[in-house]
Amino acid sequence: MKRISILLIMTLCHFTIYMNAQTFIRVSTDRTDLIYKVNGKTGRIYQIYLGEKLLDDSEYKNLPANIYNKAVSDRHEAYLCSGTEDYFEPALAVEHNDGNLTTYLKYVSHVVVKKDDNVTQTSINLKDDVYPVEVKLIFETFAKENIIKSRSEIFHSEKKAVKISRYASSLLYFSDAKYFLTEFSGDWAKETNISSQELFYGKKVIDTKLGSRAAMFASPFFQLGLGAPVKETEGQVLAGTLAWTGNFRFTFEVDNLGDLRLISGINPYASSYELDPKTVFQTPEFIFTLSSKGAGQASRDFHSWARNYQLKDGKGERLTLLNNWEATYFDFDEEKLTNLMKDAKDLGVDMFLLDDGWFGNKYPRINDRAGLGDWETTKNKLPDGIPYLVKTAKETGVKFGIWIEPEMINPESELFKNHPDWVIMQPNRETYFFRNQLVLDMSNPDVQDFVFGIVDKIMKENPEIAFFKWDCNSPITNIYSPYLKNRQNNLYINHVRGIYNVFKKVKDKYPDLPMMLCSGGGGRCDYEALKYFTEFWPSDNTDPVERLYIQWGFSQFFSSKSMCAHVTSWNSNTSIKFRTDVAMMCKLGFDIRFNEMNNDEKEYCRQAVASYKRLKTSILDGDLFRLVSPYDGNHTAIMYVDESKNKAVLYAFDINPRYSEKVFPVKLQGLDPTRKYRITEINLMPKQKSSLNVNDKVFTGDYLIKAGIDVFSSSKLQSKVIEITAE
Ligand code: DGJ
Repeated sequence: MKRISILLIMTLCHFTIYMNAQTFIRVSTDRTDLIYKVNGKTGRIYQIYLGEKLLDDSEYKNLPANIYNKAVSDRHEAYLCSGTEDYFEPALAVEHNDGNLTTYLKYVSHVVVKKDDNVTQTSINLKDDVYPVEVKLIFETFAKENIIKSRSEIFHSEKKAVKISRYASSLLYFSDAKYFLTEFSGDWAKETNISSQELFYGKKVIDTKLGSRAAMFASPFFQLGLGAPVKETEGQVLAGTLAWTGNFRFTFEVDNLGDLRLISGINPYASSYELDPKTVFQTPEFIFTLSSKGAGQASRDFHSWARNYQLKDGKGERLTLLNNWEATYFDFDEEKLTNLMKDAKDLGVDMFLLDDGWFGNKYPRINDRAGLGDWETTKNKLPDGIPYLVKTAKETGVKFGIWIEPEMINPESELFKNHPDWVIMQPNRETYFFRNQLVLDMSNPDVQDFVFGIVDKIMKENPEIAFFKWDCNSPITNIYSPYLKNRQNNLYINHVRGIYNVFKKVKDKYPDLPMMLCSGGGGRCDYEALKYFTEFWPSDNTDPVERLYIQWGFSQFFSSKSMCAHVTSWNSNTSIKFRTDVAMMCKLGFDIRFNEMNNDEKEYCRQAVASYKRLKTSILDGDLFRLVSPYDGNHTAIMYVDESKNKAVLYAFDINPRYSEKVFPVKLQGLDPTRKYRITEINLMPKQKSSLNVNDKVFTGDYLIKAGIDVFSSSKLQSKVIEITAE
């Protein structure tokens, strides 16, 4: 049996093991080459190329092409260490047992494993020849999607633990005339504001120290325009993101020769990690693509890669839903929830989602000051418990989903009284509370078991629960782990690893359970967590105008399938149509009092849900084309095109046009120029006639791409959804 499986693995994978030092190591996709070269004399290894794929397989051996001083090929050390003759930010810094702070890594071997036609893994083994420290650089390439994952493993066999104060996932070098960085920053309810700047000598850092709600201010992704600012459809853009649900750091450093060094990894802030002998330190993955056709292509590559490889159930269905959070907040009972379930059925969505406020007895969760930690249904609010709600939903004809925030605790809880030692909290200082709560110490295995047990118990008692919303409303405050005692430097990192242990256990036991990643909005939005979650909640801000910007920002890296968008009551200046049209660009839900809508609005919503379900394949699995940016004026438009180019959906919004502003035609993208397409406006209010001058007309893809169509108006807060069908 053992022999058969070894044979099977040998047939499936193509192994190439290089025992002797090879000079070149080529890491490539169908469109990108990242090439390293070993210096035969010193054994040290250097990046000599990162760019568009070289077509002639023999030519990369001519690199580096432009030697303007003789040291150029040895200038960009693959995993630069502290203490060498390169004086810029290192990828690795180790304090050895004797106090020495230097490390020199030399090439040992590399291994290429072709996992299948699309995926290849290249591991490069490096070793210091003075101290017993080893590093493995691991690259995984996705040929068709043009995505490269880069991470490292650090290992040593010194007598005692070493301290590592730098441990990059990736170090990349660029040699261009100019560099322009686009970043995505903000705060609660104003996520992913896009800003750009040129980089000059010195460092620009994007980082977070928030711990659990890590991405509340800065998102763990960026775009880098090489030679020119980032544009949508042209130019070289490196788009990168760190798959880590904790403190991250991107360091962009322009050096003395005008080259740019980009270091991505865990933020080493307050985390000089104590690594025990013979233990592997795994860094998270830095995931990137290099596009030669602007940010649009980079986004589409990220989206299809995520659906194919990373997102939980990336190829599967998504459930439309009605959530009760904004309809009731904490003020609900069985009757109110039953009525909302009926609304969900009437609306035509798949599921009812019960939000915060259903648990706690001694300290009931009637507001956000108590109850977190006590995951028992509040008896005087919901006397028949969750089983009754699941049963009622079933009888009503909708599925049932539930909210939890299992990594957190209110001091007003039985859990806190029983287990103060499970909480990240200062033993000897006044406690600071964020949203009246504290963070459980996920570095402690007992706490991990407890958190897993919350999901497991709910599922065991209610196997028909169809969905979880997993919230996380506080950053780590009062940083001190009673469990880690004198190893506090390991807390930020071990905490995240503890969370992953739980996510993994949940996914292993409940592989088909859809789950929403939420962190008071977009405080968690990274591709490691999304291995365990089918979708995420980009923002608590559901004002549709704001959402046009927020969704535009997140869409740079995340597909519509992974982004939840709900129709709510935010911004009463906008119509229900405008709000629904915005939410219909992503994974659609409602969080509103449906019964308070007038009949036309109700009918409009029912029709919109039905159209959404009909067009889901294009909207959630199609290619996204961002046509007009809301950052460029008073309108915005995007479209999705399905894989076969048979069907497309175009969304157009007039935000705040000036009086008599010039309205311009929008040129479409992604269609087959040789085919003919019918234009049909959908999502019209009952009795509303389309104002589109091209409604129900047929054009070639060529015409639509080159001449475009008029979809904007000069009226404020108008929206159009247009179905485009190949004849
Ligand atoms: C923050 C989330 O983002 C909201 O959607 C809601 O679930 C609240 N938490 C509940 O406390």
